Amino acid sequence: MTDSTRPKRVLLVVGGGIAAYKAAVICSRLAQAGHHVQTVMTRSATEFLGPATLAALSGRPVGLDGFDSRYPLGAHIEMALDVDVMIVAPATANLIAKFAHGIADDLASTIYLQNTAPVLVAPAMSDPMWNKPSLARNVAQLVDDGCEIIGPDSGWLSCRVKGMGRMVDPETILGRVAEILGAPDRR
Ligand SMILES: Cc1cc2nc3c(=O)[nH]c(=O)nc-3n(C[C@H](O)[C@H](O)[C@H](O)COP(=O)(O)O)c2cc1C
Repeated sequence: MTDSTRPKRVLLVVGGGIAAYKAAVICSRLAQAGHHVQTVMTRSATEFLGPATLAALSGRPVGLDGFDSRYPLGAHIEMALDVDVMIVAPATANLIAKFAHGIADDLASTIYLQNTAPVLVAPAMSDPMWNKPSLARNVAQLVDDGCEIIGPDSGWLSCRVKGMGRMVDPETILGRVAEILGAPDRR
């Protein structure tokens, strides 16, 4: 099997924003495309989307806690092994801040530090959050650190106003993931 035809390993990290429901579509489409999808949800993400949904769609348990006896080396180590692309969708302001500052106080933020694959970050938040100088500084830091930021878009936000901060559509994320996975192996 050549590198371009081997099954790809996708790590999908889901943060605690309203757009978490769209992660189910991303997960489903990646699984249908034949990829090995490992999902990780923050505790806040589970307020918006049931882990059972991502477990069923991906066909494997969702990473919820770094301390999990199924992963004796640490879930952050075992789930980050041989990953081809890491997607963070939705990326909350909190996750972006933690990634930018190297904070590793839960599975999602720890696995970001452990991961060596390309990282695609899809921010989703309210317009005022997106426009905070601190957020812009953290996003700039992630770009500097080699992450790719996709979006956000302008449009209808769940806080019932139009503005900037809407997560890009799953289709857009999936299209970019396909491009990244089609690129020569960077590991
Ligand atoms: C109804 C509701 C919607 C929220 N939507 C967002 C959002 O879209 N983006 C965001 O950054 N935070 C949002 N938050 C705040 C996050 O859930 C909160 O900052 C949380 O600590 C994020 O945790 P996480 O980054 O570990 O997922 C929302 C909170 C609530 C209660």
